[in-house]
Amino acid sequence: RHELSGSVSLEELSDIDSPGSVQLVACGTSYHAALYVARLFRARGVPAQAHLASEYVTAPAPFDSDSLLIGITQSGETADTLSALREAQRRGASTLAVTNVVGSTAARECDHVVYIRAGPEIGVAATKTFSSQLATGNLLVERLCASGTKRTSESTRELIPALRDLPNQLQSVIDNSTAKSVVEEYVDYDAYFFIGRGLHRPVALEGALKFKEITYEHAEGFAAGELKHGPLALVTQRTPIFAVVTGNGERAQKTISNIKEVQARDAPVVAVTDEQSEVRRYANYTLEIPQTHPRIAPVLANTQLQLVAYHMADRMNRSIDKPRNLAKSVTVE
Ligand code: F6R
Repeated sequence: RHELSGSVSLEELSDIDSPGSVQLVACGTSYHAALYVARLFRARGVPAQAHLASEYVTAPAPFDSDSLLIGITQSGETADTLSALREAQRRGASTLAVTNVVGSTAARECDHVVYIRAGPEIGVAATKTFSSQLATGNLLVERLCASGTKRTSESTRELIPALRDLPNQLQSVIDNSTAKSVVEEYVDYDAYFFIGRGLHRPVALEGALKFKEITYEHAEGFAAGELKHGPLALVTQRTPIFAVVTGNGERAQKTISNIKEVQARDAPVVAVTDEQSEVRRYANYTLEIPQTHPRIAPVLANTQLQLVAYHMADRMNRSIDKPRNLAKSVTVE
């Protein structure tokens, strides 16, 4: 039905207008999803900014009457995110929760709610819910930015089949990933860096967060272009770089230049990539993802990085489902 109409309808969102601008608030993994969703809005010409919820409360951005404040929160109970949503409501903003938990506080308190419908997530580290946040973010943007223009319906038509293929493609990434043998090469190194550009930047940040959470090793994610503005000083032959590069466009070429910069410092490079990219010529190892829509490639790339974190943590005998010091739902600010 979606392919025929070229538009997306979300049953929860029958009575919402297209926003003039969007602000997103979230924490941790959900913040990385917010960075991704903000980019999707901006690509549709809707000004959008993602904020860390804990910082938003002290520095809220101004609202217009058609501004929408979106809180992304798996649990719907994260105190920082709830505070930011409440602050925005006090200031008259319309609010929308993107959450996994039906009847959660965020779902009850916001004017609108969209459920990611990922099912209960048992592990402390967010995994399948991040994938579902990105998928739902795509549907949300299609729904809210539907202006009936030709461009809109074409973009939706290409996206929906890619989303439909996503479960099978994710399964094939899980079945065929070589992450286990790759991480074996890099056990006990000094630190692990993750880089990506554009929609792959949130994936790099998320890859590093997952890695540090469950391996307890030092990991950082950077925008690929930022490396040369400082972090390059940390790069040595003992700091593997996980680079997310797909396609062969200008962005991919620029990330490949960044990869050459780290290689000149003897750092090993693991590229998460698709068959279009020539990055394989420069990488020590590649982790392959299937060809898909450019907006969906980050979901597949992220799954490869989740497997990297998983296999490293497993190799180090870490408590993968219950990492030390962390709780599934953070209900204090
Ligand atoms: C990381 C992780 C946390 C949560 C963050 C927000 O694996 O799980 O960073 O993403 O605490 O939680 P929610 O999404 O429930 O608001």
